[in-house]
Amino acid sequence: MFSRGIISNFRTPTLPFPTCKFSVSDKDLESRGFFLRRTISDLNLDHLNSVFVAVGFPRRDTEKIKLALEHTQSILWVEHKKSQKPVAFARATGDGVFNAIIWDVVVDPSFQGIGLGKAVMERLVEELLEKGICNIALYSEPRVLGFYRPLGFVADPDGIRGMVYSRKQKKKK
Ligand SMILES: CC(C)(COP(=O)(O)OP(=O)(O)OC[C@H]1O[C@@H](n2cnc3c(N)ncnc32)[C@H](O)[C@@H]1OP(=O)(O)O)[C@@H](O)C(=O)NCCC(=O)NCCS
Repeated sequence: MFSRGIISNFRTPTLPFPTCKFSVSDKDLESRGFFLRRTISDLNLDHLNSVFVAVGFPRRDTEKIKLALEHTQSILWVEHKKSQKPVAFARATGDGVFNAIIWDVVVDPSFQGIGLGKAVMERLVEELLEKGICNIALYSEPRVLGFYRPLGFVADPDGIRGMVYSRKQKKKK
């Protein structure tokens, strides 16, 4: 989930897609059996946790995930109409004015490679830009940099490097 570098669209003059025009429309997503959701009211957090685990993130306490999502500014997830389970997810925290950080970008492995990750990211970025938030950062694993670049994200913009203080979890006895 964490990376060797922070990437951001800080000072990126334009994004590669015009405002409000996405690579796949909400209608097309629906016709393919996916609903876009922006609140956590129908989100089953155990299922979401399973998607995190399936992509290799550590399993986290569901109650803590709930708390984190309650403190999250923007949430976007895709519900699979048939199973009613979350199959794609991303969220952004921030100060609501200048800065946001995108976290937990995941697509269920069974649904990867069909445009859901891009659909979620395009909309999340658009939502933040519409709020006037221009500095949007995220952590990227090296193998995923190529996913974020076409979405307008640049690694180490102007030589700026991300630094992280990460407290190591104590091992459970
Ligand atoms: C990375 C991830 C979110 C991408 O979601 P996805 O739904 O599989 O990706 P999409 O189908 O929307 O792909 C959109 C575009 O990105 C490209 N792409 C997808 N994953 C990529 C990768 N790892 N590297 C380079 N390009 C990638 C696709 O080829 C596609 O290109 P196109 O628009 O030219 O056709 C998903 O693979 C995932 O959940 N991975 C595991 C968790 C993870 O690593 N999350 C990121 C944490 S930093």
